[in-house]
Formats: sequence, structure tokens, C-alpha cells
Amino acid sequence: MSKRLSLIYFSATGGTAKVTKGVAEGISDNYKEYDITSPINRKESITFDSNDLVIVGVPVYAGRVPKFLIDFFTKIKGNHTPAVFITVYGNRNYDDALIELKDTFESNGFIGISAGAFIAEHSNTTKVGTNRPDIEDLKTANKFGADIKNKLENLEDMSQLPKLIVKGNVPYKERISVPPIVPDTNDACTKCGICAKYCPMGAISINNFKDIDAAKCVRCCSCIKKCPVNAKSINHEVFNKITKGLIDNFSTIRNEPECF
Ligand SMILES: Cc1cc2nc3c(=O)[nH]c(=O)nc-3n(C[C@H](O)[C@H](O)[C@H](O)COP(=O)(O)O)c2cc1C
Repeated sequence: MSKRLSLIYFSATGGTAKVTKGVAEGISDNYKEYDITSPINRKESITFDSNDLVIVGVPVYAGRVPKFLIDFFTKIKGNHTPAVFITVYGNRNYDDALIELKDTFESNGFIGISAGAFIAEHSNTTKVGTNRPDIEDLKTANKFGADIKNKLENLEDMSQLPKLIVKGNVPYKERISVPPIVPDTNDACTKCGICAKYCPMGAISINNFKDIDAAKCVRCCSCIKKCPVNAKSINHEVFNKITKGLIDNFSTIRNEPECF
């Protein structure tokens, strides 16, 4: 493929990264990665041109693209740059996240050529979307990438591409406001600092790992899933209720990836 392939992804607990790389590997094994999970990687602007192909992967938070990513995406500029949009959700629904991602990038100089909604284990619980993306999901991601490669190779000029249409509604669903909930830390904590090092919002104090800034925390559960001694957990009535609802309704069904 003659285009330079780049990946941009945010992945607090690893699911979005796996899917986005799975799609990329179907296109080429030569790609540049912009892992924007760490806050220090969301500072600089990034610019692309028509010789680039960009794959953008984001997790779905409350049926939308996380707000802090929408804010950062204003710094990513294309210039007739072909792009592939990927949303990864926790087996409930991706609602309006894919259309929001597409609209955001298309209004910033990118031309959407394909898009996909994939499934990963839910951040809140291992009981929903358990072990996803699995081998079948990654095969689908790879095949999706290979199809994109073929599509581009058989194309003489980008204007031949039909307009990309994805599932979702405009106006997008309202963002829900959640009370300021942060993870608790129990006495098992060994002060290893992994939680603070990998917190994508820089919300955990490096001087006191129990001190978590509720204004910054997005409840991505990175600290909970990465803690080697299970010292972190969220124990809040609202969070527990949401998680119970997810387990009751989405732990025994299997949603499949959708490609557009
Ligand atoms: C704050 C928050 C809101 C979420 N909202 C949804 C949702 O609306 N629908 C859904 O299916 N999954 C939802 N999830 C689950 C994530 O979309 C899913 O676990 C995602 O794959 C995590 O990506 P990651 O592993 O790259 O961090 C939510 C997760 C978080 C942390």
C-alpha cells in the first residue's frame, strides 16, 4: 500500500489497543503508533496529509466518545486524509459514539473510508464482554483491515468512494453526569505506583496513591485492572447499581463486531 499508515488510540484497559492494532495488521505490518492513553501524549498537535491513512480507535463511554478525547481531537488535523474509525464498547451498546467519532474527524480534514464497532471486556466488570476481543474478534478486525487495503488499492482517486454511513443518531445522546466517584485503596497496597504511572488522566497523586482527584478521574478502571494486589476497587452505590444492571442484561449475550 502506498499510503503511510498511522494508528491513534486511547486504551485505558487494553481492549481498544488490541482491536485497533488488529485492524492495522490486516492492512500492513508497517505503521506508526500514537498511543494517546497517557496524558503526556495528548499535548502536541498532529498533522496528516493525503499520503497518510489514519486509523482512530476509541472506547465508548456512556454511548459517546469520551469528552476529553473530543477536546484533544481538535489538535489532530487532516488534509484530505483517508481515515478509519473504530469504537470499542463493553458489549452493551456503542449508541452514538461511532457517528460522533466520524463527524469529529471529518470536520477536521479527514475523509472517512470505513468504520467499525468492536467489543471488549467491560471496564466495570470482568463478567460482561469477558475475554473480548477474542480470537474471532481479532480475525474479524484483521479481515476488516485487509478489505480496506483492497478497497484502497483498487481505487484511482478518493472521490470514487461512496460517502461513509455509520449507525448512530444526531443529535447524539446526552452525556450523563455521574457523581464524583473514585476508586478506594485497601491495605493490600504496596505503594508500587503502577496505578499512578498508568492513570490516563493523571488523577492519582504520585506522593500518595490513595489520593485520587475526583475532578480528573473518569472511572476508566485502569488502576483497578492493573493493580497487581487488587488494592483498588470502586465501592459506590451508583457504580454498583450500573454494574449490576450490566451483568443482569449483558453478561450472557454476545454482540458481534459491525463494519461499515
Ligand atoms: C465511564 C465508562 C463508560 C462506559 N460506557 C459504555 C457504554 O455506554 N456501552 C458499552 O457497551 N460499554 C461501555 N463502557 C465499557 C467500555 O466501552 C469498554 O470496556 C471498552 O472496551 C474499554 O476500552 P479499553 O479496554 O481500551 O479501556 C464504558 C466504560 C467506562 C469506563
